[in-house]
Amino acid sequence: MLYTTVDRADNKQFRELYVSPAAAVEAAKTGAPMPDGTVMTLVQYAAVLDAEGKPQVGPNGRFMKGNLVAYTVMEKRSGWGAEYPDNVRNGEWEYQAFKADKTPNTGANLTACFNCHKPLGAATDYLFSYDRLKAASR
Ligand code: HEC
Repeated sequence: MLYTTVDRADNKQFRELYVSPAAAVEAAKTGAPMPDGTVMTLVQYAAVLDAEGKPQVGPNGRFMKGNLVAYTVMEKRSGWGAEYPDNVRNGEWEYQAFKADKTPNTGANLTACFNCHKPLGAATDYLFSYDRLKAASR
């Protein structure tokens, strides 16, 4: 399910964040980690730009969705991540980047995914949007 969207002014993107299964939202509401089998998908769209090259804002005050750019995905499975050293491992999460045509982006720096999400720690299960998940209605 779509649980939130993000306007990214820095790279002029509009992003949609999806979680599966929807039961993961219930877990977040109780402060629990994401269940085994959770898949988080972040869909990146180019923001629609105005004549000056700035992201245009729609009637709802938010960026507008242009062309699909890429996908980034986190998936959690019981036992995953054991091969990583402690200073890299993000619990049982794995990361992958996909191109707009849904094939894996073999040029992506997956170490950067671990490094940037790692400091969030186990309390929010390495998710930036844990509070958004908590707030999602279903
Ligand atoms: C420099 C920091 C940084 C790096 C590197 C990074 N992310 Fe994230 N990620 C974020 C932020 C910040 C968000 C919150 C949404 C947003 O602002 O777009 C996020 C959100 C996500 C989400 C939605 C779940 C959540 O945590 O809220 C997924 C899935 C995700 N990233 C996957 C990846 C993958 C896969 C990679 C590597 C290819 C990656 N990220 C690299 C900062 C980063």
